Amino acid sequence: PNVVGARYLASAVRADQYPEGDFAEVAFIGRSNVGKSSLINSLCRHGGLARTSATPGKTQTINFYSVALKYSEEERRQFLLVDLPGYGYARTGRAVRRQWTKFIDEYLAASPRLKLICQLIDSRHPPMDSDKEAFRRLAELGRPVQVVATKTDKLSRQAARKSVAVIRDELALPGDAAVIGYSAADGTGRSELLDVISHILLE
Ligand code: GTP
Ligand code: MG
Repeated sequence: PNVVGARYLASAVRADQYPEGDFAEVAFIGRSNVGKSSLINSLCRHGGLARTSATPGKTQTINFYSVALKYSEEERRQFLLVDLPGYGYARTGRAVRRQWTKFIDEYLAASPRLKLICQLIDSRHPPMDSDKEAFRRLAELGRPVQVVATKTDKLSRQAARKSVAVIRDELALPGDAAVIGYSAADGTGRSELLDVISHILLE
């Protein structure tokens, strides 16, 4: 399958601002600066779709992107990629950070169309407490989660493999749960993640 169209649809901080319609959704969560927005651009091969920044805290609203996935000449699926603000960092102070957490949590708990949550973790560091907390919360919500280790281009192949093992260990993932190593810079992991998403959309 491949992405054949992607465009910005809407931004929200409250439930009444979520886009209408019954498209399936795939959301991306992770610490600020982990590479959520860059991953969305890389998946869609559309550099300017989601805004990215070297400074943490760039994405401040829930942003919905409408994406078309082509499986074959006959088979297409339209769905939404959902970019979320990062957790674990707040230049803007505690009150704002709590508010972000609250509206992210509200979205993750409420959306009936949310088919998959990709939790991104920086491959250069072991998961932080905030990552573990977020992972526990997703388990509590009973949502399917795909863990993705980002920025693997910054590591040697061996170090990237080790990072995946550490993430699996620290989150106590079952042995058969795949952690996808991803690089928005060189495209590593893109087809693997697209496969996971395209499978889920057909369910
Ligand atoms: P917030 O919106 O602040 O939560 O951040 P984010 O998770 O959306 O991160 P973003 O995609 O804005 O990327 C943060 C920084 O990391 C930017 O400088 C990106 O260029 C860089 N970056 C993202 N993905 C990769 C990657 O795979 N490899 C490398 N080398 N840099 C990356
Ligand atoms: Mg972002």
